[in-house]
Amino acid sequence: MDAINLMMDEHKYILRGLKLFRKLSVEVLEGKPVDFVSFEKMISFVRGYADKHHHNKEEVVLFKKMETQLGEQVVKGPLSGMYIEHDLGRQHIKLLEEALLRVKNGDLDSRVDIIANSICYTDLLTRHIEKEDKLIYSFARRALSQIDMEDVNKSCEEIEAQATKDQLQKNYIDALEELERKYKI
Ligand SMILES: [Fe+2]
Ligand SMILES: [Fe+2]
Repeated sequence: MDAINLMMDEHKYILRGLKLFRKLSVEVLEGKPVDFVSFEKMISFVRGYADKHHHNKEEVVLFKKMETQLGEQVVKGPLSGMYIEHDLGRQHIKLLEEALLRVKNGDLDSRVDIIANSICYTDLLTRHIEKEDKLIYSFARRALSQIDMEDVNKSCEEIEAQATKDQLQKNYIDALEELERKYKI
């Protein structure tokens, strides 16, 4: 397994999820009833697939390997930006969840917070993915030794095997595709 290729493929699924967030937000902007169920499915997708499954492989495997093998001083600058953006994304999703709850309880003004946090999240993640695809991952490929890359591949393979056994990828991708069909994306 080539872990970086795998993570770049995961980015493609995440980008499809971001399109859905934008679509759901436009519906709110147009004054349609907030589709709570679809928003909740998307929150579950980004938390379970984008964050827990994908960001975890970056933080625990690839970025960790870059820190230990290339030296914290070398990678600190570029990687700290990635960690901060992972955290900012989590914060937007938490704020989105809170806004959904307020709207559900009758505070219609909070629809603006649903839109704001969804769009901030999609913009943040779009730029984040571009930086990883074009800079961070290619830097890792150039700078890590073959043995280190093999180590990263092996760790990711183990994580994938367990997730596949739990049908994690299938469940999240099925849910994503169901929403794509619903919203004709
Ligand atoms: Fe990332
Ligand atoms: Fe990523």
